[in-house]
Amino acid sequence: MILSKRASKIAPSITLAISAKAKQMQAEGIDVIGFGAGEPDFDTPEPIKEAAIAAIESGFTKYTADSGIPELKKAVCEKFKRDNNLEYEPSQILISSGAKHSLFNAIFVLCDDGDEVIIPAPYWVSYEEQVKMSGATTVIVQTQESNDFKLTPELFQKAITPKTKAIILNSPCNPTGTVYERDELEALADVAVGHGIHIIADEIYEYLVYDGVKHHSIASFSQKVKDLTITINGVSKAYSMTGWRIGYAAGPKEIIQAMANVQSHATSNAVSISQKAAVAALGGPQDCIAQMVAEFDRRRQVMVAGLNKIKGFSCRIPKGAFYAFPNTSGVYGLKFNGKPINNSFALTEFLFDEARVAVVPGDAFGAPDYIRLSYATSLKNIENGLERIQKAVDRLG
Ligand SMILES: Cc1ncc(COP(=O)(O)O)c(C=O)c1O
Repeated sequence: MILSKRASKIAPSITLAISAKAKQMQAEGIDVIGFGAGEPDFDTPEPIKEAAIAAIESGFTKYTADSGIPELKKAVCEKFKRDNNLEYEPSQILISSGAKHSLFNAIFVLCDDGDEVIIPAPYWVSYEEQVKMSGATTVIVQTQESNDFKLTPELFQKAITPKTKAIILNSPCNPTGTVYERDELEALADVAVGHGIHIIADEIYEYLVYDGVKHHSIASFSQKVKDLTITINGVSKAYSMTGWRIGYAAGPKEIIQAMANVQSHATSNAVSISQKAAVAALGGPQDCIAQMVAEFDRRRQVMVAGLNKIKGFSCRIPKGAFYAFPNTSGVYGLKFNGKPINNSFALTEFLFDEARVAVVPGDAFGAPDYIRLSYATSLKNIENGLERIQKAVDRLG
């Protein structure tokens, strides 16, 4: 074996693989409807693009400080104060190449071999692999749809061992769309504080909430919680900037410094031009977010209503992010051309081959009874895609 034990344990990202496959087939002229991608389909707003063009034209194209330009750290501090009631100094901020990179740095500096990291399931695909890359072990805690996929303090408490180092919380959640209420997060924070467990709070979908639901930053609850928390966020989802690769982390100075040290040897600074664009995104007019959320909301209603009409599917209404997460176990056991559809992988393959619709199997998120469909695509695609799924599922017997 030429690969390290660590590398051989890492699976590729299923979500990225599925959206790449759909994009490639579309490029070849094959009519595939993609519900796999985790990215808004809107263009990046003009003022943000203009800031990037100005950065190029003024020659802002060289290395920057490894941990991010002071101007962007300041904009991040102001954003935390404005939106999250959180006071940070620039030395408590790290700018990375996407929120995914900030998450990696956080897990890498917190965990030693054999440490345990608690992850409530269903979870975002990369958490598990990033924890494995750090040498730590994941402790997956199953949550229930009947409790809106929320981790309870009792379940959290039960998962704790002397080796527990951190918990990863993601609200609003990818893939479930679950958004925790303030008192629910407070109860989880109490458990973390009681045991000195670090909280990695992934808040990348913070602005994408519906039905008047509010997002809460767990670090804002008390100084004790703040001292244990690394908040992760970025500009990818809120400003339709997935390709620009700017994420950030905020937390205790010592942890952020260690993350900056790791980053300084792994990738150095995030793209200089994108950092200037992110300053414009965070500090500029925010109305682009409300417009996007209103459109996602319309699509959410159509997607969920359509899914609930499909035989064997049942879909609760997600309160955040831009994914529908139907329970599809009602079709498991049915057959197509004599071949049984027994799990989420088989269903995903069937929908791809027979309906030309790309979805993500729930197994990728630790939830085999489900599939994930992104509604960050046009209403027309949603309507056509649902019709195709319905027709295909009707052929199962
Ligand atoms: C829950 C969650 N966290 C983090 C990320 C990564 O975001 P970024 O594009 O900023 O790396 C994603 C992207 O899909 C996500 O869904």
